[in-house]
Amino acid sequence: MGKTSQLEGFYKLSPEERLKIVKDFANLNDEEMKIIKSTGSLKLDQANRMIENVIGTIEIPLGIAVNFFINGRDYLIPMAIEEPSVIAAASNAARMARVKGGFRTSSTEPIMIGQIQLMGLKDISKAKKNILSNREKIIEIANEQDQMLVKIGGGAKDIEVRVLETPSGPMAIVHLLVDTRDAMGANVVNTMAEAVAPFIEKATGGSVNLRIVSNLADMRLARAEAIFDKEVLGGEKVVDGIIEAYEFADSDPYRCTTHNKGIMNGIAAVTLATGNDTRAIEAGAHAFAAKKGGYKPLTTWEKTSEGDLLGRIELPMAVGTIGGATAVHPVAKICLKILGVKTSRELGEVMAAVGLAQNLAALRAMVTEGIQMGHMKLHARNIAVMAGAQGEFIDQVAERLIRERKVRVDRAKEILEELK
Ligand code: MEV
Repeated sequence: MGKTSQLEGFYKLSPEERLKIVKDFANLNDEEMKIIKSTGSLKLDQANRMIENVIGTIEIPLGIAVNFFINGRDYLIPMAIEEPSVIAAASNAARMARVKGGFRTSSTEPIMIGQIQLMGLKDISKAKKNILSNREKIIEIANEQDQMLVKIGGGAKDIEVRVLETPSGPMAIVHLLVDTRDAMGANVVNTMAEAVAPFIEKATGGSVNLRIVSNLADMRLARAEAIFDKEVLGGEKVVDGIIEAYEFADSDPYRCTTHNKGIMNGIAAVTLATGNDTRAIEAGAHAFAAKKGGYKPLTTWEKTSEGDLLGRIELPMAVGTIGGATAVHPVAKICLKILGVKTSRELGEVMAAVGLAQNLAALRAMVTEGIQMGHMKLHARNIAVMAGAQGEFIDQVAERLIRERKVRVDRAKEILEELK
């Protein structure tokens, strides 16, 4: 019988039993089995409680970005990422920001939106009125779902109704606005949205379809800004080059996607390190970037009257410091401790500062030596190792590869032979 991925009851097996099946399916050898079985700080039973069908864990390097001075306080920033240069670049930009006082940040209250899709309405404007006149009751039902959250100042705060014309007919979309305090909040918002749906149906005679959080968390924004001294950046030409690069992104979605990707290099790395939802943050950021008409940069760059560079960033930041993986992943818990953030808002603001730093570093590198130089430093060491270099030879081979701008295994082998 051929191999099949149709595995009834796979979820009921232990991770070891599942792994045995995967081993046979994919012909994993003993060495591969040893690697996949070895876990780091996240133990197999913890992982098995976090998601379904677990067979192991996968490790990603965790590094610390240094030099961050935000609102007059020093932060060490844990970043989990597989890409070289990102942490060095963020640290370098943060070092440059310090000269003019570091980053200043702000944020809105942590309001998340739950959407309730209401269909089959005979008179949509009457339904809208009905919903709005029952505002208090809807908020009350929502808040019955999490009295603890209400006690600490959070909970459902308001509702909005939007009307959409669609190929399936008109829809009334109810937005439940929930202050989720220090939780990311998707769970509580979904619970509340599901709880208020039957009441909304009764009040309007319509029928509810979806009840779900929106990842376009545009009521939960984090902002950061910093001034970068022109001399520290490398002179007036570099400042002008960065502004031209920003205007390129502002005018072209092809460039803008990469511009925003660079920002998210930093933000996603902190999201992952703190056990937050990287997909929610990415989705929210890119949708926000497209909200004002056209796909736009998440940062803006301008010249100050002194000729220095002023950068600003604003984006949705649906992150939590309690609940979810932040509460169960042992490394994520320690990363939050390293950051020393007290609230989800503070975490979001720090992450905005990291995004701004990341963007500055990428733009400056591209405007000056090009992006490959930084990338190549680490890459060249890896290539040297791949070519068989050990000990002191690793750095010697890597340096020659960079100098010659030929970071290739074949050249590394030749250099190694020469050196030996
Ligand atoms: C690479 O991961 C990120 C950059 O491409 C960002 C950018 O181009 O702005 C360097």
